[in-house]
Amino acid sequence: MSEESRHPFLKGLSKHRGAQPTIITIFGASGDLCARKLVPAIYNLAVDNLLPADFYLIGYGRKPIPDEEFREVCTEAISKFSRRKLDKDIWKRIEEHTYYCSGGYDELAAFEKLKAKIDSIEKDLGRAAQSVCYVSTPPSVFEPIIKNLGACGLATKYQETDKHTKVVVEKPFGKDLASAQNLNRVIQGVFQERQVYRIDHYLGKETVQDLLVQRFANSIFEPLWNRQYVENVQITVAESLGVGTRGGYYEQSGATRDMIQNHTMQLLALMAMEPPSSLNAESIRDEKVKLLKAIEPLNTDYANPDVIRAQYDEGLVDGLKVPGYRQEQGVSTESETETYCALRLNINNWRWQGVPFYLRSGKRMSRRVTEIAIQFKRPPSTLFSKNESLSLASNTLVYQIQPDEGSTVLLNAKIPGLQTRTQPVKMHFKYSTTFGSNTPEAYERLVLDAMIGDGTLFIRGDETEASWNLITPLHEFWASEGRRGMEAYTSGSWGPRAADRMLWANNDEWRRP
Ligand code: BG6
Repeated sequence: MSEESRHPFLKGLSKHRGAQPTIITIFGASGDLCARKLVPAIYNLAVDNLLPADFYLIGYGRKPIPDEEFREVCTEAISKFSRRKLDKDIWKRIEEHTYYCSGGYDELAAFEKLKAKIDSIEKDLGRAAQSVCYVSTPPSVFEPIIKNLGACGLATKYQETDKHTKVVVEKPFGKDLASAQNLNRVIQGVFQERQVYRIDHYLGKETVQDLLVQRFANSIFEPLWNRQYVENVQITVAESLGVGTRGGYYEQSGATRDMIQNHTMQLLALMAMEPPSSLNAESIRDEKVKLLKAIEPLNTDYANPDVIRAQYDEGLVDGLKVPGYRQEQGVSTESETETYCALRLNINNWRWQGVPFYLRSGKRMSRRVTEIAIQFKRPPSTLFSKNESLSLASNTLVYQIQPDEGSTVLLNAKIPGLQTRTQPVKMHFKYSTTFGSNTPEAYERLVLDAMIGDGTLFIRGDETEASWNLITPLHEFWASEGRRGMEAYTSGSWGPRAADRMLWANNDEWRRP
């Protein structure tokens, strides 16, 4: 089957995908991600009959627990977190093939035991299976896991046979350019790039995939998609939640590493890249890398108004009083970590030169919303009276990634009546109204794609480095500045005033999503 013909954007899910016997080993099996996302994703793939008949799940973690206990943990995770109710008969078929291996992540002998377990499953099957190693541990042990997968002989080099290993690596992929390059070197010393699946779960979201379909399956957008017609582009990834219990992790990360370097830059790349020559993984990723490399490096001058970082103060979210970031559990009262970041980026290519791309992401903002808004140039004002011309809104095309998934076009329309008065109105497509609301979770798509070997919705090594290359100078500069230049915003607001001023300086304004 050619890559194109089985690609999700062209074919959708077909029942016979992933037919090869498959053993998924989840490293970090006692972690949150495994319970909340991975096990429920595997279960939902089973419900949709998308798992191969010979499917095995192995949990790997430091804590020694018997297989039986891990099975119970999985059952509970499905009952709690799956989008569909637990159907015991379906789950039983996987549960019977679910095992647990314990050991340290730097303990080669434990990996050898894991390999022996996989070999014995294959022996029982009487045929080779592919092994998908899903690394969902804290990043500090990514490196020893990869090295041990190589050392124990599990990372069989990719060959055109049905016996090969794939590795899925969770985020964060490095904390700066040097560490991402180092991790890439370690991975590429053990696996070939085509065996590697770097996760950015935003790429698994239905609406992010739909962005490509909307852009390239419609002819009305392409002629407008450039500096002649677009005034600015605004990408908002806002959360109303604070850091919760993840203060320890977040202190080392901050909004720029946690959300901008990966999710937000991916949205930007998909929105702004050139049309790929085909919808296969390499063509799409080539275009994304080209786009990321065309972004002008950020000036890290202290006074640069195009880079804003801020921390949330206490405030009201959904009517409830919430603490400021520096009062959160696990967070230093002197913290220098940003919970909000806004950037103005210039893309130096033929299509976009001169069009500002505004990116913002923050925690404890007014509400949870992810959207891409493309604001078109204002219409010429010759046909209407002065007052009407002034009130003409810019046409805006908004992709709502979440929640209320869909897209909206803002148009000027005539208010009924004997005078010519205009008002902006919305043309709205809502995903759930048209297609129903029970869409697959991002991780269902991503686990399935890793199994069938489709890397389109994963990040390639050079892509992650291109994105870190842009962000790392900011972190280096901030590290030298301490809290200097750190803005504040009230929890439940749309961010600091400085971010508003960033747009005003250009006669632009943030959209209120
Ligand atoms: C994760 C970040 O990658 O994405 C979290 O580490 C963030 O801090 C989460 O809350 C947001 O994901 P989603 O799918 O809820 O928008």
